[in-house]
Amino acid sequence: MHREIKKAALLLQQNALVAFPTETVYGLGGNALSDDAVAAIYAAKGRPQFNPLIVHVVSLEEAEHYAQFNGAARLLASHFWPGPLTLVLPRLKDSPLSLLVSAGLDCVALRSPAHPLAQALLAEANLPIAAPSANRSGRISPTEAAHVRDELGDRIAMILDGGPCSIGIESTVVELGEKPVILRPGSITETQIRQYLPDIQTAGTSAAIHAPGMLASHYAPTLPVRLNALEVQPGEALLAFGPSIAHALTISQNLSLTGNLQEAAANLFRMLRRLDASNARRIAVMPIPQEGLGVAINDRLTRAAAPR
Ligand code: TXA
Ligand code: MG
Repeated sequence: MHREIKKAALLLQQNALVAFPTETVYGLGGNALSDDAVAAIYAAKGRPQFNPLIVHVVSLEEAEHYAQFNGAARLLASHFWPGPLTLVLPRLKDSPLSLLVSAGLDCVALRSPAHPLAQALLAEANLPIAAPSANRSGRISPTEAAHVRDELGDRIAMILDGGPCSIGIESTVVELGEKPVILRPGSITETQIRQYLPDIQTAGTSAAIHAPGMLASHYAPTLPVRLNALEVQPGEALLAFGPSIAHALTISQNLSLTGNLQEAAANLFRMLRRLDASNARRIAVMPIPQEGLGVAINDRLTRAAAPR
């Protein structure tokens, strides 16, 4: 694996694109100091230019070279980094990061991932790595190297294969302006953040304007999606949750037979992909409890079901 990491690091230094595993989902990485590399990321994803990217860093110490940290930001970083938390902060005036990663905003999203391969790659490349999820724009996030190969294989220099992602759902995005606010729910829950920032708010729909990544139709499979399904209709594939009714004749996947939300998050995107590739006409999704990780899972499912 060490040789693979060396090769990937060298490619990043040459401004080529490398997909790599994180604990949440696979990222489509490029040198965050280079406009060329960042532009190549947008092009490979087919991502609208106004949708800014997360910059991955080795540590809080490195991050402080790129953005302005206040007390709240340091507090969250010291408790949750490395890990699945992204902090949106004002760029330093002389920040060396490509302006393109901010897509015209004066803030930047930073995260230090916990996955050992991501950490090894960041250290070996000795660069900040801009990386959105490694899927084509608007599609389901990849949680295995094969997902990346299917969608982007012909557009990138290398895929670093770290097996399936342990968390399977993207990081929580928190903006630390005057009032700290959760822009995107993710695997760190609001309750966890509230322990350190009691006044944390969650973004309502108005945040859609502020966090352009929160487009209503996002994470979309090809097939239409029906939420809160209590039964399966003809022609539907079922995404089940919990110890449910037998679905012998139905194309189905179960997010978690035992009703475990962490297991469900890890399975979500892989199972959606599998059902999407079936010959069903629609995907029916059973209700998921709106608590803990269920909030992030329902956020992704609502986007998958949004009118396109
Ligand atoms: O878990 C994750 O966060 C994965 C892994 C690869 O780190 N990355 C990921 O990136 O999900 P992406 O690009 O698919 O989603 C980034 C989210 C988007 O909702 C985007 O709008 C928001 O972060 N974001 C990025 N930069 C921002 C900024 N400067 N201000 C506000 N929101 C920002
Ligand atoms: Mg994404």
